Amino acid sequence: MSNIVIIGTQWGDEGKGKIVDLLSEYADGVVRFQGGNNAGHTMVVKGEQFISHLVPSGILQQKTCYIGNGLVVDPEVLIGEIDYLESNGVKVGPDQLRISEKAHVIMPYHKSVDNAREKLKGDNKIGTTGRGIGPCYEDKSTRRGIRFVELLDRDLFAERVRIILDEKNFYLEKYLKAEPLDADEIIDQYHAYADRLKPYVTNVSVELFNSLKKGKQLLFEGAQGTHLDIDHGTYPYVTSSNVVSGNACCGSGIGPREINGVIGIVKAYTTRVGRGPFPSELFDDIGDAIQKKGAEFGATTGRRRRCGWLDTVILKNAVRLNGLTGLAITKLDILGGLDALKICTSYDCNGTIIEDFPGNLNVLGECKPVYETLPGWPEDISGIRNYDDLPENTKRYLKRIEELTDTPIQIVSVGPGREETMVLENPFTQ
Ligand code: GDP
Ligand code: IMO
Ligand code: MG
Repeated sequence: MSNIVIIGTQWGDEGKGKIVDLLSEYADGVVRFQGGNNAGHTMVVKGEQFISHLVPSGILQQKTCYIGNGLVVDPEVLIGEIDYLESNGVKVGPDQLRISEKAHVIMPYHKSVDNAREKLKGDNKIGTTGRGIGPCYEDKSTRRGIRFVELLDRDLFAERVRIILDEKNFYLEKYLKAEPLDADEIIDQYHAYADRLKPYVTNVSVELFNSLKKGKQLLFEGAQGTHLDIDHGTYPYVTSSNVVSGNACCGSGIGPREINGVIGIVKAYTTRVGRGPFPSELFDDIGDAIQKKGAEFGATTGRRRRCGWLDTVILKNAVRLNGLTGLAITKLDILGGLDALKICTSYDCNGTIIEDFPGNLNVLGECKPVYETLPGWPEDISGIRNYDDLPENTKRYLKRIEELTDTPIQIVSVGPGREETMVLENPFTQ
């Protein structure tokens, strides 16, 4: 029996959705454990594309999908996603989707605060997704949050909203110069959401425990990427949750002994949406070419993703922080046609070579990437399904990633479709 965690190793958008959808075939349940609808996970099945923001990417394989206590959930977005999937023939009833009663609810004032703060910060903004993620986690930590338990209790919910909104409106109007919100409107709107979502709400920890006892296999779907982690990322240019594998337990309510493997998803180059440091970022024609060929636009906000060379300093950071047991390399097809490929192997910080990702952003700002150069391959590899059929230079690039990270590559992806993949070692059956 195996329980596997999928983690983004870079700054998000590594292709987690695709790999979770693929591996869901072997799992009984798929669990999201942090983040919210700042995530945008793309699955392409039989040429049809689905982007999920909250519903775990196991839904297309009709596995039981769990939204753990570690998430912040915008009920309007979740209902929209359920309706969208159902209208496309994917069943998302209470048998397929379970929502933790302890997950926190994103309220309209979280979104207002998120956007008004970013506006006020001007050039110093984080570049958030504007979905209210940070303000919701902030209320969770200061114990003013509203969980699904409270949402489902109509009178308690109304009382809470009135008390909280008093303070929020003061802050919105007086400090952020934004529009105040109306309590009655919010209460009516959210009562309707509560009625709709009630059948899905449960004690996810108990359900996971019972299914583990029966020998069922679970797949944990990370959102964002290691370098957006609130503790270990490029703070303050990060998201507001722990995205590393350790949080798979905390954010779903299971113990650490249940986890058997942690797969790090590695895009074959590096991208980042929003602001913050990115040492191997490209500002030249090659960066533009990768951005275009890779269609690097955010799946949530549609923003153009910044592109750069693969950086193994950050990958080694991800290996250590997540205890990675294997890697899945995605978008390898996008690198075809380039004469040479660079891999950043260390940073030169004013003459000192460093291999460990620095915590101080001022130090990081001084860091210049140190590259080694490998030959590229002219071939289009998107039709290849056997590792042995890959061009020699492609295999060389992959081997070098394994050497530099000291971690085996278990999956190679050469296209967005579920079948455009080579599984070298299946983490569920090895
Ligand atoms: P996630 O947030 O980690 O799930 O990743 P996103 O879905 O935001 O972004 C990954 C994008 O790359 C999506 O558009 C996927 O369909 C696409 N994708 C994933 N794997 C591959 C691949 O191997 N090759 C190509 N060309 N596209 C891929
Ligand atoms: P997936 O799961 C890429 C980034 C935002 C911003 C920062 C903080 O699709 O990989 P937030 O709204 O979370 O407060 O924004 O984090 N960010 C992501 N970037 N992929 C994501 O998710 C992201 N989720 C948040 O762009 O820089
Ligand atoms: Mg994404």
